[in-house]
Amino acid sequence: MPESAARSLPLFDAADPMDAPPLRWGIMGLGSISERFTTSLCAHTRQQLQAAGSRTLAKSTAFAARHHIARAHGSYEELVADPEVDIVYVGTPTSMHHDCAMLALEAGKHVLVEKSFAANAQQARAMVEASEARGLFIMEAMWPRFLPFMRTARTAVDSGLIGRPLTLTADLADYNEYDADNYMFSPELGGGVTLDRGIYLASLSSLLIGPTQTVAVDGLQDATGVDAHLNITLGNGQGAYSQLMASMYVNAPSNARLSGTQGSLSFEPPWFLSPRVTLFDSRGAVLDAVDSYLRRDVDAFCYEAAEAARVISAGGISSPLMPARESISIIETLDRILQQAHASWQ
Ligand SMILES: NC(=O)c1ccc[n+]([C@@H]2O[C@H](COP(=O)([O-])OP(=O)(O)OC[C@H]3O[C@@H](n4cnc5c(N)ncnc54)[C@H](OP(=O)(O)O)[C@@H]3O)[C@@H](O)[C@H]2O)c1
Repeated sequence: MPESAARSLPLFDAADPMDAPPLRWGIMGLGSISERFTTSLCAHTRQQLQAAGSRTLAKSTAFAARHHIARAHGSYEELVADPEVDIVYVGTPTSMHHDCAMLALEAGKHVLVEKSFAANAQQARAMVEASEARGLFIMEAMWPRFLPFMRTARTAVDSGLIGRPLTLTADLADYNEYDADNYMFSPELGGGVTLDRGIYLASLSSLLIGPTQTVAVDGLQDATGVDAHLNITLGNGQGAYSQLMASMYVNAPSNARLSGTQGSLSFEPPWFLSPRVTLFDSRGAVLDAVDSYLRRDVDAFCYEAAEAARVISAGGISSPLMPARESISIIETLDRILQQAHASWQ
């Protein structure tokens, strides 16, 4: 695109989540993210919250009462056997995503799986193969991908608005006080920053730079054994790199900026819920900006649910916005990050 051409960001008019055809949802694992996901669905969609499933009946009964859900189940097996449920939302710790998703798929249910999609690539492949073999939908709940401002950014990059993307810099970091009850400090539950925060960064890199070919990592391990602070460089094998930082030892503003040969895109922090995306020319002058009306993450989870409902209602089993096969490739990148980090700590 010539530098002199008029350049403005595409206004992405994402369909209202309220318009997505309603499915009957079962919520599996009733912790903090399930609470927020359910609140978002109730507030911003016509999706039917049909059943809640917990390892304990008292907990699912209380959750169901709180969210006006008709049915409460005291085990995940009972939840997936519920004939009134079309799709199961898996909100359990990452180390359990594979088993929970497989349970739902084997019972004939579609699944929306929290991030990280799986604890390793072998699990991710098995989940996607099961979905494809059964003709059932599966998707990672990578919520920023579905938001209108991120779809604007993606369309801008795909249409060549910043030329050839060469460098993505992004961080996701927050200080975590040690808490034995927080899965972040548990290697067994899939804690650590790679699976909890690196996944967002690796997914952003995959979206804006393309599939990862090279991985370089330096960082620190916590006394609990989890990876706690990582500087990560991902290369696409064609000269473009993502410089990423994920941490539970430091706080950072959640910046993200993508620079290309003809301009840059800057995401006002926090990038995953960016209030404003700005387009710069190659000399750093502002060309255009789009504002997002989303202010709280709880208002954002409804977009991923609406996407699942639209794809399933149209007979699809994978979303073009977060393809299941891309989730495998991203988890492969996380595997490589963790292998390199742990090798350096031997
Ligand atoms: N999208 C986001 O913004 C976001 C934010 C935070 C977390 N997450 C992801 O969501 C998942 C859950 O995170 P969370 O913060 O909701 O965790 P959480 O509050 O600890 O809840 C996890 C739930 O999983 C169930 N569970 C099953 N086996 C368990 C076990 N061995 N130990 C602990 N819980 C077990 C429990 O539900 P029952 O007792 O009802 O069975 C528990 O309440 C993780 O994969 C995480 O990466 C996503």
